[in-house]
Amino acid sequence: MILSILCLVLSATSAYMPGDRKTYIVHMDKAAMPAPFSTHHHWYMSTLSSLSSPDGDAPTHLYTYNHVVDGFSAVLSQTHLKNLQKMPGHHGTYLETFGHLHTTHTPKFVGLKKHAGLWPAAGFGSDVIVGLKQYGLKISTTFDYDSPRDFLGHGTHTSSTIAGSRVQNANYFGYAEGTAIGVAPMARIAMYKIAFYNDTLKAAAVDVLAGMDQAIADGVDVMSLSLGFPETTFDENPIAIGAFAALKKGIFVACSAGNSGPRPYSIENGAPWITTVGAGTVDREFAARVTLGNEELSVLGKSVYPENLFVSREPIYFGYGNRSKEICEGNSTDPRAVAGKYIFCAFDYKGNITVSQQLKEVRRTRAAGAIISADSRQNMFPDDFDMPFVTVNLNNGELVKKYIINADNATVSIKFQITILGTKPSPQVAKFSSRGPSLRSPWILKPDILAPGVDILGAWVPNRPIATIRDIGKLLTEYALESGTSMSCPHAAGIAALLKATHREWSSAAIRSAMMTTADVLDNAYDMITDISTGAAGTPLDFGAGHINPNKAMDPGLVYDIEVQDYTNYLCALNYTSQQIRVLTGTSNFTCQNDNLDLNYPSFIIILNNTNTASFTFKRVLTNVAVTRSVYTAVVKAPAGMTVAVQPVTLSFDEKHSKAEFNLTVNINLGNDVSPKRNYLGNFGYLTWYEVNGKHLVRSPIVSAFSVSNGQ
Ligand SMILES: *[C@@H]1O[C@H](CO)[C@@H](O)[C@H](O)[C@H]1NC(C)=O
Ligand SMILES: *[C@@H]1O[C@H](CO)[C@@H](O)[C@H](O)[C@H]1NC(C)=O
Ligand SMILES: *[C@@H]1O[C@H](CO)[C@@H](O)[C@H](O)[C@H]1NC(C)=O
Ligand SMILES: *[C@@H]1O[C@H](CO)[C@@H](O)[C@H](O)[C@H]1NC(C)=O
Ligand SMILES: *[C@@H]1O[C@H](CO)[C@@H](O)[C@H](O)[C@H]1NC(C)=O
Ligand SMILES: *[C@@H]1O[C@H](CO)[C@@H](O)[C@H](O)[C@H]1NC(C)=O
Ligand SMILES: *[C@@H]1O[C@H](CO)[C@@H](O)[C@H](O)[C@H]1NC(C)=O
Ligand SMILES: *[C@@H]1O[C@H](CO)[C@@H](O)[C@H](O)[C@H]1NC(C)=O
Ligand SMILES: *[C@@H]1O[C@H](CO)[C@@H](O)[C@H](O)[C@H]1NC(C)=O
Repeated sequence: MILSILCLVLSATSAYMPGDRKTYIVHMDKAAMPAPFSTHHHWYMSTLSSLSSPDGDAPTHLYTYNHVVDGFSAVLSQTHLKNLQKMPGHHGTYLETFGHLHTTHTPKFVGLKKHAGLWPAAGFGSDVIVGLKQYGLKISTTFDYDSPRDFLGHGTHTSSTIAGSRVQNANYFGYAEGTAIGVAPMARIAMYKIAFYNDTLKAAAVDVLAGMDQAIADGVDVMSLSLGFPETTFDENPIAIGAFAALKKGIFVACSAGNSGPRPYSIENGAPWITTVGAGTVDREFAARVTLGNEELSVLGKSVYPENLFVSREPIYFGYGNRSKEICEGNSTDPRAVAGKYIFCAFDYKGNITVSQQLKEVRRTRAAGAIISADSRQNMFPDDFDMPFVTVNLNNGELVKKYIINADNATVSIKFQITILGTKPSPQVAKFSSRGPSLRSPWILKPDILAPGVDILGAWVPNRPIATIRDIGKLLTEYALESGTSMSCPHAAGIAALLKATHREWSSAAIRSAMMTTADVLDNAYDMITDISTGAAGTPLDFGAGHINPNKAMDPGLVYDIEVQDYTNYLCALNYTSQQIRVLTGTSNFTCQNDNLDLNYPSFIIILNNTNTASFTFKRVLTNVAVTRSVYTAVVKAPAGMTVAVQPVTLSFDEKHSKAEFNLTVNINLGNDVSPKRNYLGNFGYLTWYEVNGKHLVRSPIVSAFSVSNGQ
């Protein structure tokens, strides 16, 4: 099996643009091409050259698109634009927009095993081609390569997550040590560089469209995109446009849900033909052991300090008796008091001083290192650990405090580079993971699914430092820990590649359905998956159908399938104009006769628009994808304020591919007590179809949420 890496150079963002020149995406009506032209490209070039003004001001052609849209992109002046809009065949012009980033143990955590389940069944994803987008992040002041070479490391990290080969002794400075392997190690990867870092990172819509256009031309089976554009109507979003074209070719498209959580309605990439992936934690933590005095107390804390350092009985300082000093508030500590010592910072129970503010004070005072008492809501990044620094939980923080106060001469020893596996509870929904509903399309529950996205070990570019030690400098590594929905998206894409290798005939909607109806809703402590930002149980607006379970997704029993025409009907129901629908579907051969916001989706959501009551009947069709005939019965679990009726409650399927319909009627009555409203943002239950005398169960979340106009 060959792992081939194919790259494409795209650098439209560096085009020179004086005066009123701007970049546009131009949609053309292919049918209007005059007969003398042999290709559309020639026609577009001729159209563009006819726009040149006598003073020599000529438009600059960037890309001709063949799959994602009928048309091209170009840099045009206002005069060019005005004249272009009068040309025959001109159908629509959109101004350039810019997107932003959503930035070895994980295959095992999702349950992939070498000898059983989806991995061997799918030949480890052999012969499936995954297209993925790479881009990078701010570091330095250097410029990106004007070539396909990965500058920022992000594309390297995400592609190794999807299809990295087995590498022994992979680790991040002694943490997460083990054999690293991608989700679909035998899949082949094609990488398309669609974003360039030059002072800022630019993912230009014209480049994203060109990358997706080329990926379709190259025949990829799966696309993975870890970036997002502002939520607009879908016809203005290059990822939604490219994903629709991919859908028509049977290409599965996974996208990151965004890193704007835990705010409701913060989902990006919410188009229903995209699989939208949120991020969860994994059952692995990086730790340091803190031992006080003569082993009076020994506790584990969190750290990824990247040095093989053993701190041995060093003095530790605590600003006892003054709240500002105790919590290491800015400018509270005299550097002379802590010089050369370790400093303990207590948790700010009364206020809101964060660990990063405390770290700033620790750095200012030049303490030798720090132990900070922190709760689980604090976001820590590997870059924060540029000195010997550990966070301990609040209980242990109290113990450390008591020890220091009572010891005559308090000392601390610290051992770094500890990795703990099997931590509970996990997964938890990451704080940053964007939350549903989708602003532009709330009638479809988003995100679809949760996948690992916190402290993911992946390959890294060897020449870009990712860690620093304060007194030593920048460090290089071949493997880095990264967090984001950027990291969860390639997990879902890799699993889609495995499913595609196992079930060649499954549509993108069938693959997504299989992932969703078999997802885990309980964590490894057998409780409902928690939202780390609240510490309480999450809802499907946080984790979609649940945490992805690839081995179960291989054999879902039944799927909810969706055809391209159904998505067109959905666009009609959104009241899109025929021009908007044409931009997305790439055809004018459609009529809006069956407008329908109720797609055959494996989840159910009711949007309450300034009301406490609602009633809605969803229509669904299930397809048998198991080889045997089967009978299923419906079981509903509904929360207070929601009643659910299923008609009929028993479904029978004959041979493989046979179908059966049902209706699901949801009645919501929240009564008069809707305060606090927040409690009803994500009131949810489940519909589960249980196979009679069989092993399959097909589960869908049923959720109600207030519309965004309710001020949530
Ligand atoms: C980045 O900017 C530099 C200086 O403006 C330019 O020379 C280079 O071509 C740019 N690179 C890319 C990839 O846009
Ligand atoms: C600490 O002092 C510096 C310099 O005087 C000042 O800029 C900064 O705002 C102070 N920080 C706090 C948190 O008061
Ligand atoms: C606490 O320490 C800070 C910084 O040294 C000082 O400004 C403040 O007055 C002290 N507060 C009390 C109550 O002593
Ligand atoms: C801390 O909280 C107070 C009130 O709760 C607020 O006024 C203040 O802006 C917050 N400070 C920071 C740094 O978030
Ligand atoms: C406190 O401990 C340090 C480190 O072990 C030692 O060097 C120092 O002499 C001790 N001081 C007292 C007063 O015991
Ligand atoms: C579309 O327009 C119809 C008729 O005006 C309206 O009833 C419906 O609510 C609109 N749909 C959406 C999604 O805005
Ligand atoms: C338009 O769509 C209809 C229905 O899907 C199909 O029968 C017909 O062939 C299509 N016409 C063209 C020109 O593609
Ligand atoms: C909600 O209802 C209000 C008034 O009844 C209406 O103006 C608004 O468009 C509705 N919003 C949605 C999302 O349907
Ligand atoms: C679902 O409800 C519709 C009426 O809204 C009815 O025509 C249809 O027969 C029902 N389907 C099933 C499977 O009961």
